[in-house]
Amino acid sequence: MIQIQNLEVQAGEKDILKWVSLDFELWKNYCLLGKNGSGKSTLSSVLMGHPKYEVTGGAITISSPHPTPLPKGEGEAADLLEMEPDERSQSGIFLSFQNIPEIKGVKLSEYLRTIFNISEKGKNEEFKELSPFLFKRFVKKHLEELHIDEKFLDRDLNVWFSGGEKRKIEILQMKLIGPKYIILDEIDSGLDLDAFKTVATMLQSISSENNSIIIITHYFTILEYIDVDRVFVMKDGNIVKEGGKELADQISQEGFGEI
Ligand SMILES: Nc1ncnc2c1ncn2[C@@H]1O[C@H](COP(=O)(O)OP(=O)(O)OP(=O)(O)O)[C@@H](O)[C@H]1O
Ligand SMILES: [Mg+2]
Repeated sequence: MIQIQNLEVQAGEKDILKWVSLDFELWKNYCLLGKNGSGKSTLSSVLMGHPKYEVTGGAITISSPHPTPLPKGEGEAADLLEMEPDERSQSGIFLSFQNIPEIKGVKLSEYLRTIFNISEKGKNEEFKELSPFLFKRFVKKHLEELHIDEKFLDRDLNVWFSGGEKRKIEILQMKLIGPKYIILDEIDSGLDLDAFKTVATMLQSISSENNSIIIITHYFTILEYIDVDRVFVMKDGNIVKEGGKELADQISQEGFGEI
């Protein structure tokens, strides 16, 4: 479980988050709603450890899931704010960026192979790293599933990829490393209808009781693919309302209104 308690965050002298408290439980899915500028991306960046943001108060802890099978007990809590972004990633947090960065000089195949090998090693120390040849063979079926041309493997990570292609590569990363907490920051914006369906269907197949999907969106179609258990509404850096799925349904029909 990720527990956020009274979180206060600043960036460039500006108070952005104020007294944010909420929990993300591993076997539930969540939706984070709010008008533009309400603090949703800030919260997700802070969870991932983005250096642009300064945490000025509060705490975030993560408790690792119990190693034995369900029922879903959770182990001791660790201080997330003390962890580097790579440690956060290895403890199971995955952020799908609102704006996906392009990285020149890093080949997609090498990037995917590296994260896959690190992730497998984290699960099992004995794991023998896949060679470039074996990895290419292994990753092929995932590429086909996502309708991504194999030629992409030789290109630089996200450089000149279209919005939809970048998104699919992110989904591929999720498939490869199996994160526990998947934060999707507006992954439904900028996708054509077919790409959206492919991405949403893949997410549906990734969603399980062993992970938690946290959806940030201004549209609601994605909620037809992924059931959410809890909905939080942010306003001016605060959580101002929470409820079940019906709260998202209400907002999708009526807007934020007086919230
Ligand atoms: N580095 C920064 N310096 C100053 N202000 C910032 C910084 N980063 C974000 N902000 C401000 O913090 C507020 C929250 O931004 P954030 O990106 O978290 O909103 P959001 O809820 O994700 O909005 P949207 O729905 O438009 O994506 C905004 O007013 C934004 O301008
Ligand atoms: Mg945002």
